[in-house]
Amino acid sequence: MQMTGQTGQTDATAVPRRAQDGVAIRVRGASMVFGTGPQRHCVFEGISFDVRSGEVFCIVGGSGCGKTTLLRQIAGLQRPTSGEILFEGAPVTAPSRERAIVFQDYGRALLPWRTVRANVRLGISPGSVSRQDAEAEVTRLLAMTGLAAAAEKYPSELSGGMQQRVQIARCLAQRPRLLLMDEPFGALDAMTRQSLQDELLDLVAREGITVIFITHDLEEAIYLGDRVMGLGANPGRILTTLDIALARPRHQLTTREAAEFIARRHQLHQLIVGH
Ligand SMILES: Nc1ncnc2c1ncn2[C@@H]1O[C@H](COP(=O)(O)OP(=O)(O)O)[C@@H](O)[C@H]1O
Ligand SMILES: [Mg+2]
Repeated sequence: MQMTGQTGQTDATAVPRRAQDGVAIRVRGASMVFGTGPQRHCVFEGISFDVRSGEVFCIVGGSGCGKTTLLRQIAGLQRPTSGEILFEGAPVTAPSRERAIVFQDYGRALLPWRTVRANVRLGISPGSVSRQDAEAEVTRLLAMTGLAAAAEKYPSELSGGMQQRVQIARCLAQRPRLLLMDEPFGALDAMTRQSLQDELLDLVAREGITVIFITHDLEEAIYLGDRVMGLGANPGRILTTLDIALARPRHQLTTREAAEFIARRHQLHQLIVGH
């Protein structure tokens, strides 16, 4: 069941290339405006930040402050009205396999008429590897995400947590260097959510992937993040970016009881919720 249960399976080719200057994503003065005239709605304005290669960068903020819009722009699904976004130094102009997105709504992200194995296989770029190597990679990913026993099942036969594992495994099959996650655990019960948090941390550390993780849960952001950026609304803007000085590996009990965890939670709560 545990992604953490599998070790020593990361081959050298799975270790991603790092950006030369250590910056994976650079957002410079990004603004997003929908509509014109009286219909004009500025979602966010003048947002600038860097995400370092290999870090878990969390973005928190209330509903409607533009988190999903910002993530879509980083993915290349949408262009900012002004400003620019660079991935490893090159402007983001279109979606790329190097930047995989995990959506909250796993039900819509999976193909219901395909088995778990076939859904994960979809992540592999057609023609990039032999059929045999593709199957071996899918098997590795299924084991890593705790899905080995569910390989021949259909999504509707799985719990929400297992379906979300399938979406994560499919994204990893793309061999991304950046994983973009939009409230991926928001629809799951608290216990499933905590185990997936730990499995995600273990997995991205082993695969060396940079993560941008969006949540509206302050504690989830602190628990996962190397840094947490807090956004305010109307228009969306950066309120703070905090370094999270909590040791890794993190632990659901002791990390959440640490003075650093509580101090950061107070800070973010005052800024974002009290905002
Ligand atoms: N295509 C669109 N046209 C008009 N408004 C949009 C569009 N997409 C998003 N918005 C608006 O942008 C704001 C931010 O949306 P979103 O990025 O989904 O916020 P969040 O993910 O933080 O809840 C919302 O007010 C939403 O209505
Ligand atoms: Mg959203």
